[in-house]
Amino acid sequence: MQYRGYTALWSHLSRAALTGTSPVVTLSQYVGAARRDYKAHRKGRLTPGHRIAAVAGQWSIYDDPPLYERVFADRDYEQDVDFLFQAFKRHAQVSGHSNNLEVFLELGCGPARHCIEAARQGAKRAIGVDNRQAMLRHAEKLAGDAGVQTELLQGSIGSVADNFGLGAQAHLAFFPFGTIAHALTENDALAWLRDASACLAPGGLIVLQMEHPGGIFDGAMFEGEQWEIDEEEGAERLLVTYGVETDDVNPVTQVHTRTVEVSRRGRKDWEVLGSSTVEQRVFTVPEIELMAKLIELDIVHFHGSLDMEVDNLFHEDAHEMVVIMRKPLS
Ligand SMILES: C[S@@+](CC[C@H](N)C(=O)[O-])C[C@H]1O[C@@H](n2cnc3c(N)ncnc32)[C@H](O)[C@@H]1O
Repeated sequence: MQYRGYTALWSHLSRAALTGTSPVVTLSQYVGAARRDYKAHRKGRLTPGHRIAAVAGQWSIYDDPPLYERVFADRDYEQDVDFLFQAFKRHAQVSGHSNNLEVFLELGCGPARHCIEAARQGAKRAIGVDNRQAMLRHAEKLAGDAGVQTELLQGSIGSVADNFGLGAQAHLAFFPFGTIAHALTENDALAWLRDASACLAPGGLIVLQMEHPGGIFDGAMFEGEQWEIDEEEGAERLLVTYGVETDDVNPVTQVHTRTVEVSRRGRKDWEVLGSSTVEQRVFTVPEIELMAKLIELDIVHFHGSLDMEVDNLFHEDAHEMVVIMRKPLS
């Protein structure tokens, strides 16, 4: 077998490892794959993110923000942020302020679309934190284009309050779009929530947007899905694989190793642009409640979507889990 490039070969190896089969890859296949990648780079066919990834043998969609945005384009940031402003009005108890959300913090901001929208909807400070430089550069450009003021900080969730002097300043700290799943252990998740809480003014809110726990118990979360993205001006048709049936789910650690792969339409067939396995921690409701108790946060509500109407996890439109927690006043 000829591998289209190093990432395709790597993907084959990791999938074989997960399914317990023993892959045989000869030195010439390995060198051939690397050479094809190199040729592709020389022709400028791959984006810089892919170039770096292919050289390092690792690819992450987070290193290619424009591709990330195309893959997850079907989002309504205006509605998401409107929900966060409403949740703040309804549940926050920050003293000395009208119940307007004035200081918005997005942890794992990526392209910072929520931050930009929060600034647009009237937040006086919209702060985004991410550990990927590529994401922050992209976010800066988007904020510039939108003509809004944001504070975009490169750092790791877990040490934001200390590193950026944000202690007790934020009114609402938002973990968007499954970001909390990157905290793979209880200790990590507790450290992330403690950090978010340290950033919050008393009475402020933490909002977690995560996968609906129903998918853990009926297995839907682990089935995987694929979708196609139409060709656009200057951009090829894409096929996105988000999880495959053979992905590993460790029942002890509750870590789901999800295959994320993006292919583009080649002349004859799909060509893999990048492939990776991403470890994501699965959380149940009692675990969230226990963690909140441990760090003295009050759970105020569970929604089934970033939508006030979808106000419980059993609602017919509940497709995700949105947890609202509040920092006590004392
Ligand atoms: C699921 S994406 C969310 C991006 C964006 N906010 C959105 O809604 O599309 C998670 C983001 O968290 C960032 N991230 C993951 N682990 C992180 C960590 N330990 N510290 C800071 N950022 C992290 C990733 O780089 C990525 O941009």
